[in-house]
Amino acid sequence: MRLRAPLASFAATLVLSFLLLPSAVVAQVHRLDDGLARTPPMGWNTWNKFGCDVSEKLIQETADALALSGMRDAGYRYLVIDDCWQVSRDSAGAIVADSQRFPNGIKAVADYVHAKGLLFGIYTDAGTKTCQGRPGTLDHEVQDARTYAAWGVDYVKEDWCNARGLNAPAQYRKFHDALVATGRPIVLSICEWGSNRPWDWAAGIGHLWRTTEDIEDRWPSMLTNLDASAVHQAVAGPGGWNDPDMLEVGNGGMTDDEYRAHLSLWAIVAAPLIAGNDVRTMSAATRDILTNREVIAVDQDSLGVEGWMAEQSIPGLQVWSKPLRSGARAVALLNRTDASAKVGVEWQDIGLPRGGRARVRDLWAHAERGTHAGSYAVQVPPHGVVLVTIAPVRGR
Ligand code: GLA
Repeated sequence: MRLRAPLASFAATLVLSFLLLPSAVVAQVHRLDDGLARTPPMGWNTWNKFGCDVSEKLIQETADALALSGMRDAGYRYLVIDDCWQVSRDSAGAIVADSQRFPNGIKAVADYVHAKGLLFGIYTDAGTKTCQGRPGTLDHEVQDARTYAAWGVDYVKEDWCNARGLNAPAQYRKFHDALVATGRPIVLSICEWGSNRPWDWAAGIGHLWRTTEDIEDRWPSMLTNLDASAVHQAVAGPGGWNDPDMLEVGNGGMTDDEYRAHLSLWAIVAAPLIAGNDVRTMSAATRDILTNREVIAVDQDSLGVEGWMAEQSIPGLQVWSKPLRSGARAVALLNRTDASAKVGVEWQDIGLPRGGRARVRDLWAHAERGTHAGSYAVQVPPHGVVLVTIAPVRGR
């Protein structure tokens, strides 16, 4: 009797996997099951826009703006300070924050962020020094984890600079264990840029893991990260997510069409949505892109399956598809080319019955597009997407 339930659920997982996933062989992946990151983490991080220019003032103003702009209520909950907040260690080895930039210390900042209804995150590095030369966590794992927990940290991003000779799984495991030992629920963001095949080991250690080099605020960089990350589709799911890096939406290097594509594709591949723009001064257009709840719902869908590139009949015109809990598919019709083009999807390419009828809804236009049999095609702007849900209609 005892074996039956797990066996049945294992069989169900396998059947579901074969029905849903593109890969023929589905490995059993053991992701963290601590209640954190059941859907991809969402938040905001200083790095993409501000680099080392971090301060208490920036964090407070950003916390205010996240609350006021609707970003927090749309789901962007973790406010994360990236590199450069730390300067040294004291005589007892405790990490010391830059007192010029954080005159009241990090706990005061965390308290402010929490008071705004947000969660608070911080950055460190597994090696001797961070990528910007600040003290790393090597040989201070337990001490730093305790310090962070005492400050009220809810999320730690751990980088991989100056880590020569270290074993990545062992090092990240050590820090994971130190975080768990604090008793405080803390999301661990593994950031070793895919350099040690994290898709093979990170799922049991962190809640998200970078799969690529740093994103740049340019269309080709965004697509490069998307493509490189998406090949590891099968390991992602509730508790652990592939991370093609943070969002560049609103930073000025892409058009709004390109930013809509960026967010749509991150949602299709169930990527963490960590905004990286100046939310204090963002335009209404940027805010509307980042807070589109229909798009965010695709990313946050509780089925927790990472979508994939389902079809490309003409180079550069692609169909990306993600199965949703409801039985519908979210589909991004992506035009990577420099000219407007018609992009179509056929139901059989996204695992729906060939001749069936399905309701189509456009998630950027917020508009129903009618019921279609077997396929749907639409004109897509250059460097753009049309993002739809395709929901099978029962009966004829
Ligand atoms: C690395 C990471 C980035 C950022 C910087 C900070 O490049 O990949 O995301 O954290 O370090 O120095």
